[in-house]
Amino acid sequence: MTPPRNPVVCITGSSSGFGLEAAIAFARREYTVVATMRDVSRQTALVNRLTTLGLMSRVLIVPLDVTDAASIRAAVDTIDQRYGRIDVLVNNAGIAVGGFLEETSDDAWHQLLETNLLGAVTVTNTVLPMMRAQQQGRIIFLSSLGGLVPTPFLGAYCTVKFALEGYAETLRLELAPFHVDVVLVEPGAFQTSIWQTPMTNERTISAYDHIRGPLLALYQESLPNHLGNPRIVASRLVAIATSRRPRLRYPVGRDAWQEIYLRKLLPWRLYERLIRKILKLERQDSEGNRRHSRSSSVGRR
Ligand SMILES: NC(=O)c1ccc[n+]([C@@H]2O[C@H](COP(=O)([O-])OP(=O)(O)OC[C@H]3O[C@@H](n4cnc5c(N)ncnc54)[C@H](OP(=O)(O)O)[C@@H]3O)[C@@H](O)[C@H]2O)c1
Repeated sequence: MTPPRNPVVCITGSSSGFGLEAAIAFARREYTVVATMRDVSRQTALVNRLTTLGLMSRVLIVPLDVTDAASIRAAVDTIDQRYGRIDVLVNNAGIAVGGFLEETSDDAWHQLLETNLLGAVTVTNTVLPMMRAQQQGRIIFLSSLGGLVPTPFLGAYCTVKFALEGYAETLRLELAPFHVDVVLVEPGAFQTSIWQTPMTNERTISAYDHIRGPLLALYQESLPNHLGNPRIVASRLVAIATSRRPRLRYPVGRDAWQEIYLRKLLPWRLYERLIRKILKLERQDSEGNRRHSRSSSVGRR
């Protein structure tokens, strides 16, 4: 089926970061944009940018909290009544939680699952009847480098993104007969407000302190130097929406490409040795001295 002249894109989490940039990027390309956000009082940044660019007329701001099924239903009904279709859904809304896995509270796990996985599932299920009826549609999930590569101290976040990857892979197969494409976007680290949350956690277990210090120092030292511009991700989203036959996966950013391919290419034992060395997660003896891995002790002999 030929796509309409002004396709309709619905984006979750448009108040900041990738969602905000995506709303602008799609509007520039003459999409009809439904920029949804859980709290519409946080629309000022988006509205100011759109107004300056003269793009406000192409964007409708609609409340949508991905953890609230009634708000998702209401948003999709609004879009249906107004435009009668959704051509592209960008499941972008997400949160991050930091901390070692043992430290991550049940509440944090629930919040992550409900927002980053079940939220995307409910939004998708609510939009799908329209896309199936259209016999055309594209669903893009903001996964992450962390959806394929385990990242200590972001373990709960990674676990849920890994689950999102499995969901999207299966969904892609199931929706192929309906001409609905499913795509995963896997950014590395980009400069958005999500980084204001992940390095904090409510409870800490002091036994981890000796690895927490060096690990956080390493992250904090390296991260600010390679946080990418979120507009790069936004323009990739538009490119995916307009591509004739989108792939399943799109890593974005040099860190994403490097780490995903390193994880894929190296056998686990080698990969683990490398990562533990870089992140200073080597075994320690009872006095707290780092024990060298077999290869390095052989080297010293
Ligand atoms: N930035 C990165 O380095 C990076 C890398 C890989 C993947 N990602 C993924 O990219 C996506 C967007 O994140 P971002 O980096 O752009 O961070 P961000 O600037 O913090 O944006 C997250 C957006 O999600 C919204 N949100 C949170 N909970 C929501 C809920 N229950 N219902 C609806 N909206 C909700 C936030 O709304 P409020 O403004 O109301 O909080 C905000 O608009 C996330 O899925 C994230 O996991 C980010």
